[in-house]
Amino acid sequence: MIPMPGRDTPVWNDSEVLECVAVLPEAPEVRTFTFRPPSGATFVYRAGQFITLDLPVPGGNVQRTYTISSSPVTSAYISVTVKAHVDSIGTRWMLDHLKPGMQIKAYGPAGLFHLPPSPDGKYLFISAGSGVTPMMSMAQTLFERGEDPDICFIQCANRPVELIFRQKLEYMASRVTGLQLHFVVSKSDPYEVWTGYRGHFNQLMLGLMCNDYLERDVFCCGPEGFMESVREILNSLGYDMDRYYQESFQAPAETKAELTEFDDVVPQDDVQAQIVFANSQVSAWCSETDTVLAVAKDAGLNIPSGCTFGVCGTCKVKKLSGDVHMVHSGGISEEDVEAGYILACCSNPIGTVEVEV
Ligand SMILES: Cc1cc2nc3c(=O)[nH]c(=O)nc-3n(C[C@H](O)[C@H](O)[C@H](O)COP(=O)(O)OP(=O)(O)OC[C@H]3O[C@@H](n4cnc5c(N)ncnc54)[C@H](O)[C@@H]3O)c2cc1C
Ligand code: FES
Repeated sequence: MIPMPGRDTPVWNDSEVLECVAVLPEAPEVRTFTFRPPSGATFVYRAGQFITLDLPVPGGNVQRTYTISSSPVTSAYISVTVKAHVDSIGTRWMLDHLKPGMQIKAYGPAGLFHLPPSPDGKYLFISAGSGVTPMMSMAQTLFERGEDPDICFIQCANRPVELIFRQKLEYMASRVTGLQLHFVVSKSDPYEVWTGYRGHFNQLMLGLMCNDYLERDVFCCGPEGFMESVREILNSLGYDMDRYYQESFQAPAETKAELTEFDDVVPQDDVQAQIVFANSQVSAWCSETDTVLAVAKDAGLNIPSGCTFGVCGTCKVKKLSGDVHMVHSGGISEEDVEAGYILACCSNPIGTVEVEV
């Protein structure tokens, strides 16, 4: 039996495995998985943060990062809502094999894309596809506080059937006046009348759905092309982009080039480097442009990793000596950097580097 959380219930940390307690279908190839710690510990996180799951796929474990789609107001469990794309390895394994009663290792929660500690502003949430997951957690958090939230919630999908959480959102919007819900689809479903917006999200739609967008903090999540077009729309309308926040589920192609352009140390492909994996007593020669993660993998060593572009923090390792060139996207804190930690997935060795692996 799972103990119920009480005043003295400990907070979950990732040294404890998570038990899957429920699996719910949400849309084609999309399911919500709910987890609890066997000890009954509670979860503490901010709406919008993510967790990284260690998935035992055939051929070796892989780590995948998923936003927590449930609300931190309910601290006894967390849910993730995952979509399997064509060729998916990790998410496909979850859809096909992860069942209630199974236990898996998880890392986190972490992430900088979240509501502020006292979220009492006006919000515009814009998402596409599985990018709705952080928006759901944020909207539900604001809804469950019992005060009328002020949210304009815009969700885009390919077809109506692919609008994840549609019924749940409609229920919430029917209970509070401050949640304005707008759906946009590119195509119709056969046999279902669609009376909402159709086409690709654009400037005209934004004006019709949310005429006070200039007064709102914008949270956006979806495929890179979608977020780019949202940024263009907002920029062209004179929106203050300091109030714009976004989460990428995939590595943005331009980030590394943009950041390294202004950096004084640029790793060179033709310059040799060496990584010493101290605990494993292995050392490997490589090029400066290789990442610590890739060199470890080639040497047969396992550093758990999730996003592989410096967001999730799963690949954090201690650097014992030497220098690296690290270009991360928020997956490590200043304190950890000062304490000598690096993210293996986005750190290139300069000269000889020793890490605690
Ligand atoms: C911070 C963060 C939060 C995330 N939150 C969620 C979430 O809430 N729900 C969720 O489903 N995913 C989320 N992701 C994405 C998730 O971590 C995986 O990257 C994604 O599910 C692909 O893993 P996979 O095992 O399914 O496919 P992989 O085995 O990694 O890839 C298989 C194939 O799928 C393609 N592919 C991978 N990702 C996508 C994509 N997003 N769209 C189209 N094709 C793709 C690849 O190009 C490849 O060809 C998040 C990622 C990050 C970094
Ligand atoms: S794997 Fe996500 S930060 Fe390195």
